[in-house]
Amino acid sequence: TKTLGILTAGGDCPGLNAAIRGVCRAAHDRYGMNIIGIANGYSGLITGDTRLLKPEDFSGILTQGGTILGASREKPFKDYHPENGGNEWESDKVAAIKETYHSLGLDCLVVLGGNGTNTTGYQLFREGLNVVGLPKTIDNDIVGTDRCFGFHSALSIGTEAIDRLHTTAESHNRVMVIELMGHKAGWLALYSGVAGGGDVILIPEIPYDITAIGRHLIKRSQKGKSFSIVVVAEGALSLEEAGMEKKERKKHREKTATPSIGYRVAREIEEETGMETRATVLGYVQRGGIPSASDRVLATSLGTAAADLLARGEYGRMVCLRHDQMDSVDLSEPAGKVRAVPEDHFMIDTAISVGTCMGV
Ligand code: F6P
Repeated sequence: TKTLGILTAGGDCPGLNAAIRGVCRAAHDRYGMNIIGIANGYSGLITGDTRLLKPEDFSGILTQGGTILGASREKPFKDYHPENGGNEWESDKVAAIKETYHSLGLDCLVVLGGNGTNTTGYQLFREGLNVVGLPKTIDNDIVGTDRCFGFHSALSIGTEAIDRLHTTAESHNRVMVIELMGHKAGWLALYSGVAGGGDVILIPEIPYDITAIGRHLIKRSQKGKSFSIVVVAEGALSLEEAGMEKKERKKHREKTATPSIGYRVAREIEEETGMETRATVLGYVQRGGIPSASDRVLATSLGTAAADLLARGEYGRMVCLRHDQMDSVDLSEPAGKVRAVPEDHFMIDTAISVGTCMGV
């Protein structure tokens, strides 16, 4: 009988519990494995905060938001460089993880998370642990999969927020700026923006020019549209910032984007056009609540596909969705990367075709 450990790490999102249920049902009921739940991501592996999961623990959780296991942003390999002996304190964490893994008698570890989580999973695999990863994030920015669970739910929330802003924008003849999450990628802003009919969409992959945005908004008002919706990804950059060194950009961002990029863009629009502009930062609302039907299906499928890999003893892999099929990739594929929106992605063209200004 195999024993697997399961953890959820990084920011939470809708669909985590559906995925946990998928992994556990298939691993326990279909393959007869024992399951140990690890609390709060990699922290629980370091401190040994674990518990045996029984079928009743992973029953009735399909539709629940958040994660029954808890999550954290613990990164045990931060500043750990095995080639030069590593940092003492950090390498202690890796040693503690190995100790917990072996003392629990684990045969494998399933990690549900985003880029950081799967990167750590890959590093642990290289340290000799049997790891399988699942792609979870509202940011949809993991290399190796066509889609991550959590994204679709966050997209629905982003779209509903834009819909609601639309009606109040129209009543007051205002420009409404909405800032959405997405980390360094523009997927969430681009998709929500197209779904909600945003007039301007700013994503990190296309640095914006405020004069082009101003021109677009003024043209709209000349055509009789007295309101506009501007969707801004939290990672959006101005043309000026894009030309800066990383350090300089960080300083510039801290100085100008107070309290956030959404507010900065609203201020810039007002200065550029003289139009009354308001900003909304949607924040953690995007990550809360129940998963969409689509995320439930994806998370359940990825979960059961992970259990299939464990049963076959295929480790060092991340399950993924590719061409509408369950598949898997080597964990080295997503490790250390971010999947940005490609310049030639059809959604950018779609947005432009329906008259959206992409900031340039
Ligand atoms: O990765 C998910 C995400 O919500 C990003 O969109 C956002 O940049 C980040 O997490 C926020 O992180 P935290 O939960 O640590 O504040």
